[in-house]
This record gives sequence, structure tokens and C-alpha cells, in this order.
Amino acid sequence: MLRLLLREVKEYKKASIVTPLFMILEVAMEMSVPFLMASIIDHGVEKGDIGHIYKVGAIMVVAAVIGLLAGLAGGRFGAKASTGFAKNLREKLFNHIQTFSFANIDKFSTAGLVTRLTTDITHIQMAYQMSLRMFTRAPASLICAMAMAFYINKKIASIYLIAVVLLGIALFFIMKRATKYFQQAFPKYDEMNAAVQENVSAIRVVKAYVREKEETTKFKKTSENIYRIFVKAEKNIIYNAPIMQLTVYSCILLISWIGAKMIVADTLTTGELMSLLAYCMNILSSLMMLSMVFIMITMSSASMKRIAEVLRESSDITNPEQPIYEVSDGSVEFRNVNFAYKQDSEEPVLKDINLKIHAGETIGVMGATGSAKTSLVNLISRLYDATEGEILVGGYNVKAYDLKSLRNQVSVVLQNNVLFSGTILENLRWGNANATEEECKEACRQACADDFIMRFPDGYHTHIEQGGTNVSGGQKQRLCIARALLKKPKILILDDSTSAVDTATDARIRKAFAEEIPNTTKFIIAQRISSIQNADRIIVMEDGQVHGFGTHEELLANNEIYREVYETQTKGGGDFDERVGE
Ligand SMILES: Nc1ncnc2c1ncn2[C@@H]1O[C@H](COP(=O)(O)OP(=O)(O)OP(=O)(O)O)[C@@H](O)[C@H]1O
Ligand SMILES: [Mg+2]
Repeated sequence: MLRLLLREVKEYKKASIVTPLFMILEVAMEMSVPFLMASIIDHGVEKGDIGHIYKVGAIMVVAAVIGLLAGLAGGRFGAKASTGFAKNLREKLFNHIQTFSFANIDKFSTAGLVTRLTTDITHIQMAYQMSLRMFTRAPASLICAMAMAFYINKKIASIYLIAVVLLGIALFFIMKRATKYFQQAFPKYDEMNAAVQENVSAIRVVKAYVREKEETTKFKKTSENIYRIFVKAEKNIIYNAPIMQLTVYSCILLISWIGAKMIVADTLTTGELMSLLAYCMNILSSLMMLSMVFIMITMSSASMKRIAEVLRESSDITNPEQPIYEVSDGSVEFRNVNFAYKQDSEEPVLKDINLKIHAGETIGVMGATGSAKTSLVNLISRLYDATEGEILVGGYNVKAYDLKSLRNQVSVVLQNNVLFSGTILENLRWGNANATEEECKEACRQACADDFIMRFPDGYHTHIEQGGTNVSGGQKQRLCIARALLKKPKILILDDSTSAVDTATDARIRKAFAEEIPNTTKFIIAQRISSIQNADRIIVMEDGQVHGFGTHEELLANNEIYREVYETQTKGGGDFDERVGE
């Protein structure tokens, strides 16, 4: 796992190597200070040798300056390495997510992916920086200070050794408990992000339903969950400081007591005692630092796992080895197709589908909500793969095609379609990056979008806000249809794409389709009978199964669901759509 992530250090390898080296240099310089200090006191002050004080003082200044510069350089390179690493990792993750199929995205949830791209990567970045700097600095300082202490006086240094072991054990238990809580915090972060993301992206709905209060309560609950976990974790960590202080002061007392006796007995000098006390602080604070790094690393290891999980997930929809690039015609065939969104779900969403559709046909699809209309058409452009059976497009299994070519030639206007921020032209060119302005206008004319676009002051250069919030629902749908038309597809699928368009315009769009793109197979999913009744044939879906398949007249005569819907929509149902524009 670590190797998978560390691959992204790449061009920051050099910075990652020099950072610890600078940190070690800093420690070495820092460690020399108490030693030099002892020399000043013992050989300078006590013997009244001013020359010695100047000489050693100058060396101390040089050591301090080198230490400072090394510390700065270490900080700088550490920051470069860790932010660079995070940048690469984030890009890799983002690019990997782009390859995901709908099913992969369903698995992690959008909120889960967003947390990974943001919070988790930030954790890893911090942990990496800490590791590069503190993970070398703390042990180096611990070992150096210990070695110096032993060099000066073995007896007193062994007190440190005991203190280190005792403090180490105490810290270990505190950290173990704290990390348990930190790890619990991550799923809660996902929950909070999900709440935020859902709320912000649907803030208009929240307002329309005056749900602010409920949403605030929901958010408060998730944020309080995180708060509680962190309080629990911190409750453990607060013991760090008192335990550390207790150890330090006990050590100082003990050393002062033993040291004073030794000075009297002339086995220790005052300078040596002073430097021993300085090293005592060094040793114990490094241990403390080490424990913090330990927390950071365990915290980020949860993040690493979550990121590696996404990176290891490969798209379940892949290109075949020798793909077909050209869809020869727009015929579609379903052979014994079963489909479930999750492998282990008991009831399939689509059951035993057998359909044969000729190129150029216009197929209406109707059925109650949840009857699996969307699921049915999503299989044609391989947004999902069928669980059993096969789907043929142009005579070949959809799995035999190059994915990009298939999706370019089978154009889908999704049910919940979105526009992206940018001009209208830029949005249209998602359909075909090389489309000329004239081609874009032509597609808009077919989708009946030209009139309203021309009425905008900036026409085709009108800026669309993120999510298409500054165009009406019906306008957005027409832009999405035009975008799909620009692909000049062999098969065009409109999933409830004219639901917000008035019936007259809806009829004009269908007329344009019939005249302008007669050879394109068209699937029109609609709730309004008027939108599909002139189709060559109509599929009636019910509960994941094909309940009827035939022309308007045939279905009226033989299919009770169709007849019922038709009757409620035309007679007595009071539907104002009735025959308008037909
Ligand atoms: N991404 C998904 N993951 C899991 N289940 C799903 C997913 N999308 C749809 N379903 C389920 O599959 C069933 C069929 O849904 P589908 O969207 O195909 O219905 P539909 O006929 O298009 O409905 P509508 O008319 O409301 O658009 C529903 O029971 C739904 O809960
Ligand atoms: Mg649907």
C-alpha cells in the first residue's frame, strides 16, 4: 500500500532525501551547544580564561547559525516534498476516478470520493512532512543527547535511560487509546461531507421546501459526532503533558541531587551538570515529539488505506483487446438480459429482457417510475454492464466495441443531466470538440434551442453558470439534446429529456428528428403518451420487465397498462397536454 502511494513522490524524491539530512545536521548543531556551554563554564568561567570563552563562544554562534540554516532548509524542502507529493497523489486519484464506471462511483459514493480527494490527502501530506522532519529529527536528537549524556557521565545518563523507558511505555498506552478514537473519526467525516455536499448542491430544493431547520439539525448531529470523538481522543492526549512534566522534574531533581553530591566529591564539574540538565530536556521532548508523529502516522494510515482502496479499484467496464471502432448501424438487440446494480442483490432490476430493434426506428419507452426504464437504456451505451445475457448494437456485443467509440455513437441525454460552467458553445462542444459554430447552431435548431439562445444578449456566447442554474429547466433540456445531437450518433437516447419542455415544442423536436436524422435509432423515454404515441414501436416497462412491445394501436388494443395510462392522460385525466401540438 505504502509503495503504491509513495510512487507519487516522483520528482520530489530529492527534496524528500535532503530534508532528513538537514534535520540531522540541525540536531547535531543543537546538541553541540550544551557541550560547548559546559566547556565555557568549566574551562572559561571557573578558570577565568577569557580567551577560551571567546573562542568557544564563537564556535557556539557558528553552530547555532548552521543549525538555524539547516532547520530552515529542512523546513523548506520538507514543505516542497510533502505538498508536491500531495499534489501528485491528488492528480493521480482524480485521474483514476475519471476512469470509473457508474457502478464504481455508486460503490464509493460521491461524498466518499470528495473526502478522499481533500481531507484524506491533507492528512497524508501532513504525515509525510512530519515523517520527513520529525521522524529523523526526534530519534536523532534522542540518540545524540543520550550518547552525549553517557559520554559526560554514565551514572547520571542511566537515570535518563530509565526515564525514557518509563515515559515511552506511558506514551505508548496513551497513544494507543487515542488513535482508536481518531480512526473512528473518518467514517464520520464521510457522513459530514455527504451532508454538506447534498445540502449545498441541492440548496434550492432545501429552500423551496423550507427545510433549512431540519438540514441544520442534521448537520449539527454529524458535526457533533466528530466533536465527541475528538474530545474522547484529546482526553487521552492531555495526559501527555503532565506525565512528561512529572518525568522531567523528577529527573531534574534526581540529577541535581546526585549531581550536587558528585560535584562536592569532585567527580563532576558544574558545566557538565548544566549540560546534562539541558540534554535531559532534549531527550524527553524528543520522545514527546515522537509520540505525536506516531499519532499523525496512525491517523494518516487510515487515510492511506482509504486512498489505496480507490486507487486499487479498477473500472469494471474495460475496453476489449481488439475493439471495434465503428458502429455499423443503429440496430439494438437485448438477448435474455438480466441486470442488478449490486452483484449480491437478490432481486434483479431488469428481468429476462428480449428485444429486437431495427436501425432507424423510433422507440418510445414508458412505464411507472422505478420500472427500470433508465436502467434498460443505460445498458445500451454500457454505462453499466448487464449481469446476464447480452446486448448487441449494430450486430455486435456492446462489450466488443471501443468504449469511447461506442459512447460517441450511442448518445445519451441522461435523466438528470447537467451543464457545466462555460459558454453555451463550450457546453455544446462536449458533444463534439471540433464542431463548427454553424454545426452547433444546426443541432440547436433541431433541438428547438436556437430561438431562445438567440434571444439572450450574448447569444451562443452566453455564460452558463455551474449546473446550468441560469437557464430554465426546459431550456437546459433542449441544450442537452443539442449537445447529444452534435455527436451525430447512430443511436440517440432521450431519458425523459423533454419533460420540462412544453408539448408544442416537444412535438417540433420530434418532427425535426424524424426529418433531419431519419437513420438514427431513437429511444424516447417519456411519461407523456403524446411524446411517444407516434413512435414506430413502444416498450411498456413494468417492474423491470417488458410488459408490452408494439405500435400505439396494438398496445391500445392489447395492453391494459398502456390503455389505462392513455385514458387517464387523454380523457377525464384533465391533462392539459391533451393533443396540443399534435
Ligand atoms: N445507481 C443505482 N444503484 C442502485 N439501485 C438503483 C440505481 N439506480 C436505480 N436503481 C433502482 O433500480 C430500479 C429502477 O430504476 P430506474 O431508474 O431504472 O427506473 P425508471 O423507470 O427510470 O424510473 P423513473 O421514471 O423515475 O426515471 C429502482 O428500483 C431503483 O431504486
Ligand atoms: Mg429513469
